[in-house]
Amino acid sequence: MDPGQIRQFLGDDWTRAEALFKETLHSDVARLDKTNCYILENRGKMLRPALSLLVSRACGKPSEESVKVAVAAELLHNATLLHDDVLDDGSLRRGVPTVASMIGTKPSVLIGDFWLVKAMKTVLDCTRHTRQMADLFSKTVLDLVQGEMLQMEKAASGDTTEEDYLQIIYYKTASLFETVCAGAALSVDAPEQYAAAVSEYGRQLGLAFQIKDDILDYEGDALGKPVGADLRERKITLPLLGALKKVDALQEARIRQMVCDIPSQEENSRAVAGMVESLQGTRYAALRLEEYVSGAKDALHPLPDSEEKELLLRFADYCAYRTI
Ligand code: FPP
Ligand code: MG
Repeated sequence: MDPGQIRQFLGDDWTRAEALFKETLHSDVARLDKTNCYILENRGKMLRPALSLLVSRACGKPSEESVKVAVAAELLHNATLLHDDVLDDGSLRRGVPTVASMIGTKPSVLIGDFWLVKAMKTVLDCTRHTRQMADLFSKTVLDLVQGEMLQMEKAASGDTTEEDYLQIIYYKTASLFETVCAGAALSVDAPEQYAAAVSEYGRQLGLAFQIKDDILDYEGDALGKPVGADLRERKITLPLLGALKKVDALQEARIRQMVCDIPSQEENSRAVAGMVESLQGTRYAALRLEEYVSGAKDALHPLPDSEEKELLLRFADYCAYRTI
């Protein structure tokens, strides 16, 4: 099962989301419109809108609001990436040059602002639950900003613990997955029990998704972005934390210092990656990943059986075991 199969399964609901997504992004300013088209042509897997519509259908009958939640999720996600590639100096995303590397960091920030406000406007167009939808999405925008700030602070201090790591990945990834699922449930007036179930599914799925992303940063070669980027940015993620569990305090302090020194001693990045491999750090991360995948699947228990629920269960496996 891959996201393409889910999009096919969603049929007309997907077509409506696609149409709204494209319509929302139009601008009369040629440079902006052209860049938006570039992003659309090279868009990613569209996981969040697919997840959103699937959750709406698992909890009820999709409404106009369901389509808006799906579109808002993808707009917000792309807004964060336009900003993130500035913060991280990212050169490649989805296998093509980033907007920041192609036309500059300043336009990338502005275009990110455009996508962010379009996302919030789409949320505010959810006229049946305006206030609740705005609360959900604003909380996530604040989480995203806090996640980046915390990540930056920890990259500088080099003292990231597993607890810090989990907080960062909740803020930067899982919060949006949770909101997408909660918003989808709200859009179909799902009973509280279903809404709580899918929110928890989204939270755990988001954590699993980011852990897999961080594993692929050590192991993957088909991500469409450079492997090893996290270490180069001094991000201490779960594979490295897993490796650090196997060494004594002195060695741990030495490795953490090597990570802190990466900007001036690039070769440290390769040496630390080698240690992660020999100490089987990604194996530790994969075990933790499995816990979140099971947690996500268990959370769906209260939902009635349906083809959509079955796909949500399979979607959890896809997020965890994908190779891109
Ligand atoms: C990618 O993570 C980045 C995010 C998931 C969140 C980025 C959030 C911000 C820049 C702050 C909020 C911005 C707005 C517009 C509200 P990564 O850098 O680990 O992954 P990557 O390898 O895909 O770059
Ligand atoms: Mg990044």
